Amino acid sequence: MSRHERTPLGLIGGTGFEQAFGRAAPPEAVATPYGTVAVRRLSLGGRAAVFWSRHGEDHALPPHRIPTRAGLWALRSLGVRRVLATAAVGSLAPDRLPPGTLALVGDAMDFTRGGRAQTYFDGPPLPVVHLEATRLYCPDLGDRLRRAAADLGMGELVEVVLVVTEGPRLETPAEIRAFARLGAEVVGMTGLPEAALARELGMGYASLAVVTNAAAGLAGPISGRDIDRRARKARARVAALWRRVAAGLGATPCLCCPPPPQAPPFPWPAPGGRG
Ligand code: HPA
Repeated sequence: MSRHERTPLGLIGGTGFEQAFGRAAPPEAVATPYGTVAVRRLSLGGRAAVFWSRHGEDHALPPHRIPTRAGLWALRSLGVRRVLATAAVGSLAPDRLPPGTLALVGDAMDFTRGGRAQTYFDGPPLPVVHLEATRLYCPDLGDRLRRAAADLGMGELVEVVLVVTEGPRLETPAEIRAFARLGAEVVGMTGLPEAALARELGMGYASLAVVTNAAAGLAGPISGRDIDRRARKARARVAALWRRVAAGLGATPCLCCPPPPQAPPFPWPAPGGRG
């Protein structure tokens, strides 16, 4: 087995996403110190990849119950050093970012409510780690996604600021006005702490935001059916971008996203706890 094959690309998406890749292996249970998750192995652009469906294989898990530490630990334990993610979002600027837009997450703000596990470094025996978050999203993967979009004739992949809410309810119009004033451009429920936890594991992480609707108060009522329909329609474009990036990745690990300097070598002893 070549080194190339031993460092599979990690992929994270919503339920049903694996269908966009053609043939994926059946789900495989991976036990981690934070619980067991299901992943699927597949081949993308000639490269081995591992897909984790963050809401679970049967979409049973709401955003605040996603076992993010378990899912990312599972990917890392299978050799993943780079992760491409995607998430549905509402648009705070529907004139500029209408439904159907694919955008690159450039930065994010966390408005979850503290109920999600935010770190692997949760006390002794592990060190305290204050993850450096100036460039939370991998610049190299971002460049590769932008180039892939240009090569595939998809036009410019704009970079957006994501605000992550706790959910599962959608936002009120007042919340959306407040987030817009703070500088957010899209709103979703799943991008954090996922991006930060990936970086704690020393994995480069990039995310494609799929705009599925105008955020609350900016158009009519938001329908779950519309969100699902738009997300489904974008799958082929996301898969095409990921395939293009996968095909161009060499064997070297991401050089711009090392683990935090205080982190012990992976797999460090995990104190356990919920996902
Ligand atoms: N708000 C939060 N999460 C979302 C939205 C939204 O409008 N659309 C898709 N995911």
